[in-house]
Amino acid sequence: MDAGLERALDLVEEASERAYPKPTVGALVVTAEGDTVGEGATEAGPRGRHAERVALDEAGERSRGATLFVTMEPCAHHGSTPPCVDAVLEAQIARVVVCQLDPNPKVEGGGLDKLRAAGVEVELVDGELGLRARRQLEAWRTWVTKGRPFVVYKVAVTLDGRTTMPGSRWISGKESRRFVHELRAASDAVAVGMGTVRSDNPRLDARDVPTPRGQPRRIAFGRGPLPAGSELELRSGPLEDELDALGADGVQSLLLEGGPTLAAAFFERDLVDKVLVFQAPRLSGEGQGMVAELPGPIELTRLEAERVGDDVLLTAYVHEP
Ligand SMILES: NC(=O)c1ccc[n+]([C@@H]2O[C@H](COP(=O)([O-])OP(=O)(O)OC[C@H]3O[C@@H](n4cnc5c(N)ncnc54)[C@H](OP(=O)(O)O)[C@@H]3O)[C@@H](O)[C@H]2O)c1
Repeated sequence: MDAGLERALDLVEEASERAYPKPTVGALVVTAEGDTVGEGATEAGPRGRHAERVALDEAGERSRGATLFVTMEPCAHHGSTPPCVDAVLEAQIARVVVCQLDPNPKVEGGGLDKLRAAGVEVELVDGELGLRARRQLEAWRTWVTKGRPFVVYKVAVTLDGRTTMPGSRWISGKESRRFVHELRAASDAVAVGMGTVRSDNPRLDARDVPTPRGQPRRIAFGRGPLPAGSELELRSGPLEDELDALGADGVQSLLLEGGPTLAAAFFERDLVDKVLVFQAPRLSGEGQGMVAELPGPIELTRLEAERVGDDVLLTAYVHEP
């Protein structure tokens, strides 16, 4: 059973296009004999099929009596496409195994309940597979449940925890900086505070990496003014209101690139979901840490470390998906 869900989760990671604004889900149909007869991920575009339909269409008649593995509960509502639950019932699937429920409060969930009521065996597998499924959709889950983007605070620090290095524009190495350009390309918006704009005047675009989704929106929080020629978008309202407005505009993920004063304001309002810290093998001896004053300590979870060039990337959650 885990193998079926693992394959469905792999399909999400292998999907060539993001199904935005829909979440990318993976599904596969496996017969009682153990043969995979259909698989797929959510298709992009307003008429793009949900993963369940892609897998069921491929399986055709062979769906009868088979098991459908899917990374999120099938929808029971009419969205841009008809309900997947209907397709599952029409295909006479015997068993549906999922690893996360649909968190969208705006639609009547209950896909599993409807299937169960219709006599389909249903199973929700949580644990590590559930976590992997929720992490794949962490931005979308935050956006549909909170109405604001998922906020990732990304910062580079020296080994003595400083965010500036005398006489140097960069703290982290070139591999980390390339990775940051990939993160920008994968985010709906990138932002800094006006303090960083005044000292560094960053462009915040994704450079020298593929940008299949185009450039992210590039934002400066603060009163301004922006320097002449800056292409950033100035947002001067209260942070909560600005994030809600970005969410309403369809911004599902925001990469917050500092600096420490703005980061502290985000933490104080509980608006940071995940932290990425690139730690470089250098000592600065002066300058601010990654957050200015906080009103109190904050516990993070699921700390992970990976090597990026000469640096170490530390990842942790403030709000687990
Ligand atoms: N190592 C790194 O990864 C990294 C990343 C970024 C920056 N930095 C460094 O950090 C330094 C700049 O950091 P910083 O802390 O001085 O500035 P900052 O955090 O970039 O910006 C602070 C500004 O944010 C604006 N802001 C908007 N809403 C706010 C709120 N609710 N509370 C507080 N401020 C709000 C204000 O702009 P207004 O004054 O216009 O209202 C404030 O002055 C630079 O030296 C830069 O090189 C390092």
